[in-house]
Amino acid sequence: MSQLPWWKTTAIYQIYPRSYNDSNSDGIGDIPGIIAKLDYIRDLGFETIWVSPFFASPQGDWGYDVSGYREIAPEYGTLSDAEQLIEEVHQRGMKVLFDLVLNHTSDQHPWFIESSVSKNNPKSDWYIWRDGKGPGRPPNNWKALPGGSGWHYHPARDQWYYASFLPFQPDLNWRNPAVKQEMFRIAKFWLDKGVDGFRLDIFHVIYKDAEFRDNPFHWSYLPKDDEVGFFTEWKYTINQPETVRLAEELRLQLDQFSPVRIMLGEIFGEDSQIKKYLGDGHNRMHLMFLWDLMDFQFSAKYFWKVLNKYETTYPQPYTPVLVLGNHDSRRWIDRIGGDIQKAKLLVLLQLTARGVPVVYYGEEIGLPEGQIAARESLDPIGQRYAWAPNWLLKALNLYVNRDNCRTPMVWDSSAQGGFTQSNVQPWLPLSAHPKIANAADEDQDPDSLLNWYKSLLRLKREFPAINNASLKLYPPELARKGILGYSRQSDGWNFIILINFSSKQVVIPQNTIAELLTTGYVETTAGKITLGKYSGGIFTVSSI
Ligand code: BGC
Repeated sequence: MSQLPWWKTTAIYQIYPRSYNDSNSDGIGDIPGIIAKLDYIRDLGFETIWVSPFFASPQGDWGYDVSGYREIAPEYGTLSDAEQLIEEVHQRGMKVLFDLVLNHTSDQHPWFIESSVSKNNPKSDWYIWRDGKGPGRPPNNWKALPGGSGWHYHPARDQWYYASFLPFQPDLNWRNPAVKQEMFRIAKFWLDKGVDGFRLDIFHVIYKDAEFRDNPFHWSYLPKDDEVGFFTEWKYTINQPETVRLAEELRLQLDQFSPVRIMLGEIFGEDSQIKKYLGDGHNRMHLMFLWDLMDFQFSAKYFWKVLNKYETTYPQPYTPVLVLGNHDSRRWIDRIGGDIQKAKLLVLLQLTARGVPVVYYGEEIGLPEGQIAARESLDPIGQRYAWAPNWLLKALNLYVNRDNCRTPMVWDSSAQGGFTQSNVQPWLPLSAHPKIANAADEDQDPDSLLNWYKSLLRLKREFPAINNASLKLYPPELARKGILGYSRQSDGWNFIILINFSSKQVVIPQNTIAELLTTGYVETTAGKITLGKYSGGIFTVSSI
């Protein structure tokens, strides 16, 4: 096991820099604020951090609209702060991933400003420009991922540019070798500074069809798996073969660096498509988000199907990425009614199944959703859908106001939760629940969610079997009774993990078993184990 590369056995903690820790009392989290919390993250048990973008940006999409890839947005700090972050992470024996937005820039990026002034300037071909089909008629039917046409008219060129996401995020033209070369140089710039890899933002949309063919009609109005939606199949705008090749080219660049540097891809598509980006497990993406846990239904049957898929579709050498939430999705604690006991079961699964867990800041304290109305949101997606009544969004299961999953981290019980000074207004209000959990109080409480994370992460580090050993699922009959069960074995250790996702007590015949770590009501007696409602744990067995 010790030979495995670090990225196969690590646990990743995602930081949204604006919301994590404000070191200079301007109401905005920053890089020195992150550095001040590295000990907290290490002591929790995470070995890797992924930091959402902090590069120069007009902050139209809070950093996912970059206007300078080698510069740091002043509200987050300086270049030397970013260098210090890398250094301080390494001093603690940890790793750090930066967030690289390769598909698009901000429309305020000097490249786009130059590109948009005329059809024949040095940057004129750096973005995807096309003539329309006629006055007011875009070049083809390509839609943007969040809805609406992806084409936007620009009078200075009397042409349209394409944006896969929002209008102020024009897509770069990766078919232009100069663009590709520059983006590789940017990656190298940070790799030279010692960053351990990148989370790659909407990587699947980087190349579009070279012939600009119309996407075929599809009945689905709502986006589904980012493969169809808004009445089109996204055949020519996502997951093009050139994008898969790009993963391979980037891998070659990363492989030139030592120690190992990695890519964690954000890609949407069917598993067969995701597998293409992973290649043979050694030649393309190292890790890719798998979204099944994020879309969870709270049932053993659901999780059985997910793990079964991971073990059959992504067996070793592939390493599934186990993610429950991020800065684009409703806080999952709210999806289970804020129930800490149920939360512990989800975490037990996330930290003991085979794969690399990615935990979004605040999940460790059960930080709930904010209460910000869409019409007051700062998130451009929230603003865009501010007209939509809540009942409609709920019925369609759409999450549009991402402000609510980005509220400040709550460190203590002071007025602004220790995120910033008590008399300072944070950029977003704290989640306004009657009693919000906070890291300091939870640290003192042995039964807290925070300490549950800590204990599980400690076991994951201590026992390779719980980390990257193969996983054997119990038969589906058990899941039908409400229990998810699987075993992990290596180095002479046999562990079983049993999780009762049901509201009923269940008794299972099981021989020679010892409790390693449990939650809820669990009783082991000769020949059987009793699991009370919403309980579970890790057990050791002498034979399976
Ligand atoms: C990021 C979002 C961002 C979008 C455009 C995503 O998938 O996670 O936060 O708005 O890409 O860059």
